Amino acid sequence: MSARIISGLETAARIREELKEEVRVLKEQHGLVPGLVTIIVGKNPASVSYVTAKQKTAKELGFYSVQEDVAEDVPEEDLLAMIEKYNEDPSIHGILVQLPLPGHINESQVLYAIRPDKDVDGFHPVNIGKLLIGEAHFYPCTPLGIQQLLVRNGIEVNGAEVVVVGRSNIVGKPIAMMLVQKAKGANATVTMCHTGTRDLGSHTRRADILIVAAGKPKAITADMVKEGATVIDVGVNRIGMTPEGKARLCGDVDFEGVKEKAGAITPVPGGVGPMTITMLMLNTVRAAKLAGKII
Ligand code: GUN
Repeated sequence: MSARIISGLETAARIREELKEEVRVLKEQHGLVPGLVTIIVGKNPASVSYVTAKQKTAKELGFYSVQEDVAEDVPEEDLLAMIEKYNEDPSIHGILVQLPLPGHINESQVLYAIRPDKDVDGFHPVNIGKLLIGEAHFYPCTPLGIQQLLVRNGIEVNGAEVVVVGRSNIVGKPIAMMLVQKAKGANATVTMCHTGTRDLGSHTRRADILIVAAGKPKAITADMVKEGATVIDVGVNRIGMTPEGKARLCGDVDFEGVKEKAGAITPVPGGVGPMTITMLMLNTVRAAKLAGKII
């Protein structure tokens, strides 16, 4: 039987409706308008399209939003000064610096300059450390999107065997740490697999929930998946162009084969991707509420 398709488009749209209402109430009852600044250095086409989408969503939800387009050759100290300005600006609750940054800029230095209470990407080591001990204010957007997809689509995480393929700092490591917590939408038994894992299939075949962020097209095939498992595909691989000139995408999972074996599966595109931007908005609303002492 073919798997149920878990739609990130539908789930993200539902959450955005909830956020829109929350923003309306924050304005009406507290005079509080969530503020987000997105900073892009240079004109990398993928980054420009991500940031444009982030700005568009922020405006749709009623945020105060600022876009900073910075020249590719900006000196690092100028970028740090800009971040400092927004750290001190009370109308801005969230600061996002789009990655990757040009080679002459120390990415860690820039991310560490963002005040942890405005770090809506959840990349600052303070927030990563808090995530580890279960006290995070902000979770990184892609892992948070994955957890919301599971919870809101009725996938039982409590007690599940979760296998994560990939150990990046922005997806693999944080999602593993989030799902292992003794908390709602978590409390799973988590295994992490990576390029050093021997016999990957012997691990993935045990998974009730298989989360794949391997960065390798179609790395997971049907023989590596347990019958009825939930498969979350985080991969976004560009595999050419459509006749209309758009990038053709495929995930890290062989969707056509795996959907005949899995119980539920996310598509690419339209799965995890649409959740990420929505989680940035959720984090920004949270940052505004924390700043306004509403939570
Ligand atoms: N580049 C690709 N994904 C992301 C993200 O989630 N946040 C930032 N800041 N840059 C990115």
